[in-house]
Amino acid sequence: MKGDIGVIGLAVMGQNLILNMNDHGFKVVAHNRTTAKVDDFLAGSAKNTHIVGAYSLEELVEKLASPRKIMLMVRAGSVVDSFIEQLAPLLDKGDIIIDGGNTNYPDTNRRVTDLREKGIYFIGSGVSGGEEGARFGPSIMPGGAPEAWEAVKPIFQAIAAKTDNNEPCCDWVGNNGAGHFVKMVHNGIEYGDMQLISEAYHFMKDGLGLSYDEMQATFSAWNNTELNSYLVEITADILGYKDEEGQPLVENILDTAGQKGTGKWTGINALDLGIPLTLISESVFSRCLSALKDQRVEASTLFNKSISQIEGNKTEWLEALRQALLASKIISYAQGFMLMREASNENNWDLNYGNVALMWRGGCIIRSAFLGNIRDAFDNNPELAFLGSDPYFKAILENCLSAWRKIAAKSIEHGIPMPCMTSALTFLDGYTSARLPANLLQAQRDYFGAHTYERVDSPRGKFFHTNWTGTGGDTASTTYDV
Ligand code: 6PG
Repeated sequence: MKGDIGVIGLAVMGQNLILNMNDHGFKVVAHNRTTAKVDDFLAGSAKNTHIVGAYSLEELVEKLASPRKIMLMVRAGSVVDSFIEQLAPLLDKGDIIIDGGNTNYPDTNRRVTDLREKGIYFIGSGVSGGEEGARFGPSIMPGGAPEAWEAVKPIFQAIAAKTDNNEPCCDWVGNNGAGHFVKMVHNGIEYGDMQLISEAYHFMKDGLGLSYDEMQATFSAWNNTELNSYLVEITADILGYKDEEGQPLVENILDTAGQKGTGKWTGINALDLGIPLTLISESVFSRCLSALKDQRVEASTLFNKSISQIEGNKTEWLEALRQALLASKIISYAQGFMLMREASNENNWDLNYGNVALMWRGGCIIRSAFLGNIRDAFDNNPELAFLGSDPYFKAILENCLSAWRKIAAKSIEHGIPMPCMTSALTFLDGYTSARLPANLLQAQRDYFGAHTYERVDSPRGKFFHTNWTGTGGDTASTTYDV
């Protein structure tokens, strides 16, 4: 019997996805460029399964049923192109190549188009959930050539995580690079969630002087509230973890954050599309700032900086902090969905935001109860432009607002950097302002560069120029926006 699907790349994600597919009754053919890894896998965790090995791409292709489905679980970038180049001549029309890596979506756009010319269908799919998700149920976000979806759907939906209602956390996202775009935004939101949690930890530790046991207990308790999520749960675990000397391991971890680029791409896309994705962008910059360790150590002596203990009732401060975290998180997701909406319009992807929330409800790194509420919000109003105007989220924001302001003010007063929590609040204040000071900014642009302005008492699209100094002349520059 021929194989149902081939997987190339036997690093941990590839191996675990294969084992997951095998558990669900699919016959998988496994290949790796370094073929010794095929032997190791077959003799190791794939022993006594229906998984078979292939030692060359020809053998892989030969062992698969038509239409062939071949999933690449290899490093994003040129490695994917190289495998596509080698595979394409071996495949028949109607065969399918799937890229399951963290690919930048313009690459997926290009590959879908190039392969379609050869009669081959390409799917670019986000896969989230780390090692454990891949093994027992990831969130899967496929997009690309829609013709290929029916053939891949039974496998992907079988191996994906399921919600409490047994709905698979996997559905067709949209044409071309839509799946990889949505995975990129998922990762951007992941950056934002992680930074928000880290800011709360900083406030608790240095502002409130909490012990690790107290912080562990606090995050555990928060996990039983609206903040219930994988990232809050693992944070409690991490804070409670002691090293061989019985000390909190996290204290001994160097405070410089790494990044593989997906958060940065999210920020770049937001700038390109003109979306104020402030929170995620701040979270990327926070990683950049953390990486300047040597400079920070040197600068730490400049102003005799020290964080003095915050006075008052700790329990009350902690509840205020929880509310600030929750409200900031709503803003982060609101901005992320704004970005997807703009990208969907721009690329004609016709994204279904309720479905995106459903795909993220389980399996992935940002999985949370909260995403169930986001799904409801978009099911109630698929055109929702701002998550904070949905009744459920609006009520939370209203309820949290004063605590959130208190936390933001206190953090600034005591010198605790909380860029994401404070910028989220500033965003909300800006977004809910019918009038901002951009009138002055427009006047400045017109003053020094004759860039023109619109007037509050004239129809939109009518532009004016003022000769502000009497010496500037009446000629306006052309008016355009990028
Ligand atoms: C996931 C993760 C995964 C990746 C992290 C790491 O959804 O399972 O997002 O794709 O391991 O995003 O990213 P950074 O190295 O950029 O933090």
